[in-house]
Amino acid sequence: YSARIPISNLEKDIFLPYAQLQNTLNLVRRKINRPLTLSEKILYSHLCDVESQDISPGKSFLKLRPDRVACHDANATMAMLQFMSAGIDRVALPTTIHCDHLTMAEKGASPDLAAARVKHREVFQFLESVAARYGIGFWKPGSGIIHTVLFENYAFPGGLLVGTDSHTPNAAGMAMLGIGVGGSDAVDCMSGQQWELPCPKVLGVRLIGQLNGWSSSKDIICHLAGMISVTGGKGKIVEFFGPGTKTLSATAMATVGNMSAEVGATSCVFPYSDAINRYLAATNRSTISDASKGNINLLLADEGSEGYYDNVLEIDLDKLEPTINGPYTPDLSHPVSTFARAVRENAWPVNLSASLVGSCTNSSYEDLVKVASLAKQAKDANVALKVPFYISCGSEKVRSTAEKDGILDTLQGVGATILSNSCGACVGQWNRTDVKKGDTNSIISSYNRNFVGRQDGNERTHSFVTSPEIATAFAFSGSLDFNPTTDSLLNGMGRQFQFQAPAGEELPEEFSYPRGSDIYQAPLPITEATSISVNISKQSDRLQLLKPFPAWNENNAKDLVILLKVKGKCTTDHISPAGPWYDYRGHLDNISNNLLTGAENAFLPSHERGMAQRTLTGVIDSTPIIARSYKDAGIPWCIIGYSNYGEGSSREHAALEPRYLGCTVIIAISFARIHETNLKKQGILPLTFADHTAYDRIKADDKVSILDIPGMEEGKQLVMKIRQADGGCWETMLNHSYSREQIPWLMTGSALNHVKSVSK
Ligand code: F3S
Repeated sequence: YSARIPISNLEKDIFLPYAQLQNTLNLVRRKINRPLTLSEKILYSHLCDVESQDISPGKSFLKLRPDRVACHDANATMAMLQFMSAGIDRVALPTTIHCDHLTMAEKGASPDLAAARVKHREVFQFLESVAARYGIGFWKPGSGIIHTVLFENYAFPGGLLVGTDSHTPNAAGMAMLGIGVGGSDAVDCMSGQQWELPCPKVLGVRLIGQLNGWSSSKDIICHLAGMISVTGGKGKIVEFFGPGTKTLSATAMATVGNMSAEVGATSCVFPYSDAINRYLAATNRSTISDASKGNINLLLADEGSEGYYDNVLEIDLDKLEPTINGPYTPDLSHPVSTFARAVRENAWPVNLSASLVGSCTNSSYEDLVKVASLAKQAKDANVALKVPFYISCGSEKVRSTAEKDGILDTLQGVGATILSNSCGACVGQWNRTDVKKGDTNSIISSYNRNFVGRQDGNERTHSFVTSPEIATAFAFSGSLDFNPTTDSLLNGMGRQFQFQAPAGEELPEEFSYPRGSDIYQAPLPITEATSISVNISKQSDRLQLLKPFPAWNENNAKDLVILLKVKGKCTTDHISPAGPWYDYRGHLDNISNNLLTGAENAFLPSHERGMAQRTLTGVIDSTPIIARSYKDAGIPWCIIGYSNYGEGSSREHAALEPRYLGCTVIIAISFARIHETNLKKQGILPLTFADHTAYDRIKADDKVSILDIPGMEEGKQLVMKIRQADGGCWETMLNHSYSREQIPWLMTGSALNHVKSVSK
């Protein structure tokens, strides 16, 4: 199947696992005697024990062994604190940490990076030392965004990657499955345990035709989000197939896979194609593409497998229009031809305040070339930028290549600000001074997510996501009442100017190869690593060692007070907001002061965000203050959630914080996959209403009990008993998603407690 070919140019002593994957796939074929989809082939070839594995999509849990783990700086602190507390000497799987989330976007790459290195010195030093101690590769601030760096250096066709970030399905562009997980899932993998994943179904999306003119791969996923909504991919891998897949570059496919997180998908995948071959060659990995070709049976769906997709949709790339999604949700999709009308009809602010290109979704070399082609047209026609225009490159490899090829000069020549190779404004790290908090305004970006306040912490910012090309054209129009494919702009001399469709190469003639200790620290050999000590100051307000959560006790589900009843969308950004709170991602007590501050409370008259009423006293205060008062008084409490509670990111703090402040149960209409797992792992009991109308009946002063938790069994419903303030009482049935193996996580207090008790 393959000789001993290094999995990465940076990990010469770890080899492509094709022989093992092929052997496992043969066992799977004996068990499932039918054609397999590509998703099934990649996923099932990573099973730990095919023989004993129940493979029932939508029902069973798969026990898997991924090929690698990746964490970004904002989640790595908590993941590594958990790993340290497990008492293991070295990571069992290749692992990397990437410093990308903590760097602000403000003045430009150099000053912003310098400021980040000062502001976050303690956290960066902790992560660097913890990486060195436990055999982890460490990518320093400025090296690039996690998914881009993974794509350039570690992704390989047929692989399985877990990352503590919901956009890990970016690996789809490499015919690889990337799956976003919480930190404790990552800890399971790093410590060599089997990793559990609810067995996903597969949604097939047939692509026909070819992108043309202004349309881009971003429009595929923006359009799909409009078709199936933010929950349409839940419990599924989105598998693209059909002739259209052969027309896309590897990074274009990565864009689609990346934003599959916005339809709630478990992952996404594209079949192996020549484009992947070209990308591997361009990034000096022809040995991997040669090995891939020798294992092509693993990297393409079986003939006849289309009949085994859970559902099939079709997108005709010939007819796909540029698409703009938003505001406030990534599935509110508008073709560019009807967008101006939607802006008028909804009275969204028509004047833009900023345009931003970048993020892990759209910051490839190809993206930048096309953006620069438009900037050049505008400059040649004497058309100036109308709003601030910010660009970030996905990695130092992309940035230095773009610099070498004159792309950055072109962009700076029209007045764009080049930000650092990091997440920056995409994740609320935008130190914005041009618009005050509370001012109504509109922004457009090539990012993936546009929840309330996501980019600048301002609830009144209407954020729209689109392709980099469309975001660029709008930077020159300054108005959303514009269709760059048909409309003209006036230049400095009052003459009409119309953009031609963007153009550009998918890959450079030659990538730059930035290397060196300023961006990357390789894993240390174990002989050197064990002598490294990792220190955390007791006085630190950024880092705090974790204490194990207490085991389940009978009061945890008896007469619980309700902190709040969530109304509407409640993403992990609403449960644990980002922005300035990133400073406390490694300090559970401090970050818990943001708990649910973005969530709307249905119990309060105006559904105020982040506010709750204390039971008995009736005092209204912020959610973290009320929650902490319950914790201090030893009163266990619960949350009533709405649909898709915990949508969005893998942010584990959204589970750790309520657990730390004394929440024991969350009952919702439905949960997002990663968040539900995070809750279970941290010892909170997530339950869903069997009858959704029960949500409406719950009142602020009700007391909630869940009966017979000690008798809990896989697949068996639980009874919820509600005691009302007037003495009334009613019951309703609840569902849970625990497997038999997961129930001890609840009983021992957390998945980590369970692992420790078993290993003892
Ligand atoms: Fe970073 Fe935004 Fe991607 S936060 S990992 S650039 S989604």
